[in-house]
Amino acid sequence: MTALSSVQAAEGKLLVPTYDRNPVLLTRGKGVYIYDSEGNAYLDFLSGIGVNALGYSHPAITKTIAAQAGKLIHTSNLFFHEYTVELAARLTKASGLDRVFFCNSGTEAFEGALKLARVSANLKVKKNGTRKWRVLAMEQSFHGRTFGSMATTHTVKYRQPFAPVMPGVSFVRFNDVADLKKKFNSQVCALCVETVQGEGGIHAVSREFLETARALTKKSGAVLILDEIQCGLGRTGKMFAYQHYGVLPDIVTIAKPLAAGLPLGAILTTEAVSKAFHPGLHGTTFGGGPLACAVALQFLKTLEQEHLLKHVVEVGEYFRERLQQLDAKYPEIQDVRGIGLMLGMELNSADLAKQVVKEMLARKIVINRTHDTTLRFLPPFIIERKHVDQVVQALDSILSSCKQTGDAKASPSRARSARNGANGHRRGLQKGSELKRG
Ligand SMILES: Cc1ncc(COP(=O)(O)O)c(C=O)c1O
Repeated sequence: MTALSSVQAAEGKLLVPTYDRNPVLLTRGKGVYIYDSEGNAYLDFLSGIGVNALGYSHPAITKTIAAQAGKLIHTSNLFFHEYTVELAARLTKASGLDRVFFCNSGTEAFEGALKLARVSANLKVKKNGTRKWRVLAMEQSFHGRTFGSMATTHTVKYRQPFAPVMPGVSFVRFNDVADLKKKFNSQVCALCVETVQGEGGIHAVSREFLETARALTKKSGAVLILDEIQCGLGRTGKMFAYQHYGVLPDIVTIAKPLAAGLPLGAILTTEAVSKAFHPGLHGTTFGGGPLACAVALQFLKTLEQEHLLKHVVEVGEYFRERLQQLDAKYPEIQDVRGIGLMLGMELNSADLAKQVVKEMLARKIVINRTHDTTLRFLPPFIIERKHVDQVVQALDSILSSCKQTGDAKASPSRARSARNGANGHRRGLQKGSELKRG
């Protein structure tokens, strides 16, 4: 029995069956590569779903973890430790917001954001005034797996089996300003938007939609929550994706790359909104511990020291251009979109997208598929043009062999007409995706 097959068999008996894993047993990582138990190197263009932004075994991160693990790993939130202040100061300065709550994961950050919004939006409501309790979330959204995050996640299959979920949530068609205006009223406490939708297929919010969301919430006293768990912290070439738009939200949620692979999430918010919480109203045992915070601090310093945001812009542009060249060549490609190193390539069939991901893995390249038909690329920020070339060559060869084996289903004319879209909603999504950096 190989190491992989024995782990597969044992996991099959011991773990709650929540994951459909790829048949690869990973043992170590270095730079942009991860290695399996047989010593094969895989070029990682998914980075642990947007977590390993500095790649693997980055010397500054490894050093920080080792040093801090020998000093202090956990304290509880009953005591101070030396890293919260500097980390919070860096995050508030970078975001334009005022205060931070640390937690452990994306869903925990988003859950806390919903709680904060419910209390905060009602602070100024007079005794017999309209209480704000409704939450507006977006179609195609994904905010996590706990009850509040799940209730605001649009995909029915993630919510339905757990019904009844949190009441009071309505979904707005993403980037549809008229639908937003129709569904927004004075009972809304929170309007939740992923600045760039990740699980929903890599769609950036449009400027008009985000500006309308900001104006409506400001006027009514509702809270604008931007979920930047996947798109934040440099992934789009700016620290926060909303900085491409010049719109400042009331709450931002972050997680994934924050502590370079250790679990750490955060809610960033304004002074005014933060007043809704007081000691005892919200908390967590592990969130914001000294090990995770020391590493997060090093992560932010490394982004700066290695000029990685600039690099993300440059290599992201190159990657996008290369993907667009493929787009021009293959009618099976419906769209190429995204910002920085958060890119998606929509294909004309879910089966084809599945097959491409599988064949990429056979060629020792890791990507995945989101929203059924979209190939998703979330590589580490440290990739170089030569890595992009390798990925594009592999995609080119896979798509051309699919064509030869007759898997391609769309004719060029069908694909183009779908792309140009008679459907206004689809056009709205594309407009957002075409956002130019501000
Ligand atoms: C936008 C967004 N929000 C929330 C989450 C949930 O994060 P976590 O899996 O850390 O709970 C994710 C995870 O993919 C995400 O992409």
